[in-house]
Amino acid sequence: MEKVLVLDFGGQYKELIARTIRSLKVYSIIKPGTISVEEIKKIAPIGIILTGGPQSVYLEKSVKPDPAIFELGIPILGICYGMQLIAHMLGGEVSGEGAGEYGQFNVLPTREWALVTDKFGVHNAKPFKALMSHRDKVVRVPAGFVPTSHTDTCIASMDNHHKKIYGVQFHPEVSLTQGGKQIIQKFLYNICEARGDYKLGNFIKGIIKELKDSIGDKKVLLALSGGVDSSVCAALLSKAIPNQLTCIFVDHGFMRQGEGDEVEQVFSNMDLDFIRVNAQSRFLRKVEGVEEPETKRKIIGEEFIRVFEEAAAKLGDIPFLAQGTIYPDIVESGGAHGATIKSHHNVGGLPDNLKFSKLVEPLSSLFKDEVRKIGKRLGLPDFLVNRQPFPGPGLAIRVVGEITKEKLDTLREVDAIVRAELDKLSKKPNQYFAVLTNTKSVGVKGDDRVYDYVVAVRAVVTTDFMTATYMKIPYKILDTIVNRITSEIKTVSRVVYDVSSKPPSTIEWE
Ligand code: XMP
Repeated sequence: MEKVLVLDFGGQYKELIARTIRSLKVYSIIKPGTISVEEIKKIAPIGIILTGGPQSVYLEKSVKPDPAIFELGIPILGICYGMQLIAHMLGGEVSGEGAGEYGQFNVLPTREWALVTDKFGVHNAKPFKALMSHRDKVVRVPAGFVPTSHTDTCIASMDNHHKKIYGVQFHPEVSLTQGGKQIIQKFLYNICEARGDYKLGNFIKGIIKELKDSIGDKKVLLALSGGVDSSVCAALLSKAIPNQLTCIFVDHGFMRQGEGDEVEQVFSNMDLDFIRVNAQSRFLRKVEGVEEPETKRKIIGEEFIRVFEEAAAKLGDIPFLAQGTIYPDIVESGGAHGATIKSHHNVGGLPDNLKFSKLVEPLSSLFKDEVRKIGKRLGLPDFLVNRQPFPGPGLAIRVVGEITKEKLDTLREVDAIVRAELDKLSKKPNQYFAVLTNTKSVGVKGDDRVYDYVVAVRAVVTTDFMTATYMKIPYKILDTIVNRITSEIKTVSRVVYDVSSKPPSTIEWE
């Protein structure tokens, strides 16, 4: 399969670049910007993209690629810091003087431009808006290059069409740049001469064959949480090595309404051994009287390991451990592929003393959106494939303070109402749920004064879950949610809507 190599210089959009390339049917991989030219030759990419980055190229300590990459004859596109690297390393000039540009700016093409015009020599490019995010800028292009566009303050792009080296100061990978995706497409198809052979269907066949070859007739164990990654991992393995996979699903009792049974129903019908460990009362005993959130997380994490260990021990020796590691996990950990056993579902790490001769990570080259697509193709139901993120310790950190069975049951019912009503929105929040606060409040139901729980509804809009804003839910929907909760749930007297954003508040309450 043809590949495009994304060399990472610390830019925040590296994964977006790699995903955009894949969405254009060309496989992409991300590597640190400093890898050697020998390693690049082994990868044999059809094109290289240099990402943005936070540093200044003219400083001694700034990260730079092996200068020999410019002699490989492989087409190169530098974005932002990437363009400045090209200029600086090939004899042009980059300066930090003058004003920066942060936001959308007008880019004016000044001559024929290979990444924008359809046919070379035909100047049909019009001004367009592009996302800029820089202070440094190229003030003189290197010999052999021509500036192809500018904004009011900077050279916005440059080409050396003869050497197939291109730079753009703006970010074509974000939707705030008009026609940005087409620029990447032109780089891939017109410059790198890609065929576009990355198709998810073929890729699934490839993974299944690889799994068959590497596992043979051995047995594989998987800790299944019911989250997207471990579920798709299980579905793929059951296709590749039917009846050789055992999934252990630890039900800690902090799942949402009906969730444990739904997971069991889906996986019981596949060609795998599904073991559900019902450890609800065991977990509840462990967290009895505990109020502090981090202590709850720690106790649940440790107990998860114990339960998993005990269930695995009963199975005898299983040589392979499968994990739903996905590509961003590997990119974020600096490319340490398969080096460590990933902490399961953030509940806790799997025990070190479990002896496996090999880790199997069939999703390790895929992005989340691709994992969801594969799940869909393998016939997994929508509720599993399009699940919103759900914390490993589950509802235990959504019952504020001390946890009891009664509180958990109440929260499950309230949460089901919140999700059902918000699911009706055409544009759903990215995460939405209910929280059982540890406050009681007076209310009046019928002719009776009641003193019952206050529940909070949380619905946030976010792309990265690092920052988030509360969703401005239509009042009509809020009214329905409140009416349903206070009428249908006996022990709730009041509903509040959480209008705080992150930061300073977090998405979860604990
Ligand atoms: P916060 O509350 O930190 O949450 O704004 C950010 C995202 O992380 C999820 N989250 C967790 N996920 N184990 C998990 O697996 C946890 O202990 C945990 N705590 C928070 C949260 O749901 C949100 O998506």
